[in-house]
Amino acid sequence: MRTLLLCSLLGILSVGLVEAQDKKGPTAAKVGVTKAPYGKLADGTEIDQYTLTGAGGAIMKVITYGGIVTELKVPDKDGKLGDVCLGFDNLEGYVKSSPYFGCITGRVANRIANGKFTLDGKEYQLAKNNGPNHLHGGLSGFDKKVWKADPINLKGVVGLQLKYTSKDGEEGYPGNLNVVVTYSLNEKNEWRIQYTATTDKATPVNLTQHAYFNLAGHDSGDILDHQLMIAADQYTPTDKNLIPTGKLESVKDTPFDFTTATTIGKRIKEIKADPVGYDLNYVLREGKGLRLAARVTDPKSGRVMEVLTTEPGIQLYTGNFLDGKTKGKGGATYKQYGGFCLETQHFPDSINQKNFPSIVLQPGKTYEQTTVYAFSIQK
Ligand code: BGC
Repeated sequence: MRTLLLCSLLGILSVGLVEAQDKKGPTAAKVGVTKAPYGKLADGTEIDQYTLTGAGGAIMKVITYGGIVTELKVPDKDGKLGDVCLGFDNLEGYVKSSPYFGCITGRVANRIANGKFTLDGKEYQLAKNNGPNHLHGGLSGFDKKVWKADPINLKGVVGLQLKYTSKDGEEGYPGNLNVVVTYSLNEKNEWRIQYTATTDKATPVNLTQHAYFNLAGHDSGDILDHQLMIAADQYTPTDKNLIPTGKLESVKDTPFDFTTATTIGKRIKEIKADPVGYDLNYVLREGKGLRLAARVTDPKSGRVMEVLTTEPGIQLYTGNFLDGKTKGKGGATYKQYGGFCLETQHFPDSINQKNFPSIVLQPGKTYEQTTVYAFSIQK
């Protein structure tokens, strides 16, 4: 008991202790962090799954492959827990064909035009893994890496610190990049994500979380009746390959205007895109520090999710490419619009757009971003 207390005071529970606590059985559902084997990659690397049980009742499962959140259970208006994140039942699902369910995305999330950029006079060519463009860090981005995990339990906040070192030249990017991503859950059912990164050569960095949410439950059909508010008056228009033109345009009188809460499905068919749906970056209203970026409400379950971030942009993606062929958890079929992503980030193709906020990290500096997905019940 004294040892446990000391550990929680220190903030970090060693895995051994977590397992010892878990063996007692009934304590498993209590606030804390437990660990279990999740499977092996083809090369034999063992992947673990951590279960974070928060003081507010939320339960999150995270695997060391891609830092993927495989499950997130939060209460509905009747206090009933429901899993609001799309995902698979096993490691094979995530390795074989995941549309980036629940993962950490990097080194540069979103698109880089033609996979090309010039930095300090040198041209870099990255993989083109999305038509002519580079998407979400390339062929083997951070979503496909094995992260070192350390559980956290500090003053009622449970969490997991995930670390990964991306080597100089990995996926064509310059510099050894040390990345630390910390997930935590508190007594208010807020999922906080803190990202830091340092490098030994100038490099572009743009990290995000790619969870697909469905507040009615991951297996409950589409999200078209969710109400969405985004604190953005402008967005970054793109070409047909989703590369920004470099301009910022007003959302006014477009189907992209979510300045007041509107049903996601209300104007979705007005969007001229193939496939039809939302897949765009919003320019969040400026402000210091962590600020409200979006609020989503599901009238049926009464669940509300607020997104707060330090980032200048947020990508709204409504699962336009989900086609019903993706067999998810418990045999769920994820059809088009079966989930939505709100990816807090810098703007797409920032490395080639001189008018967008810079994503270049210099040696000696620290990349920092914080995002909170705060769950509550409609009042
Ligand atoms: C992008 C989509 C892409 C999806 C992949 C999103 O972040 O905006 O265009 O299809 O990721 O799952």
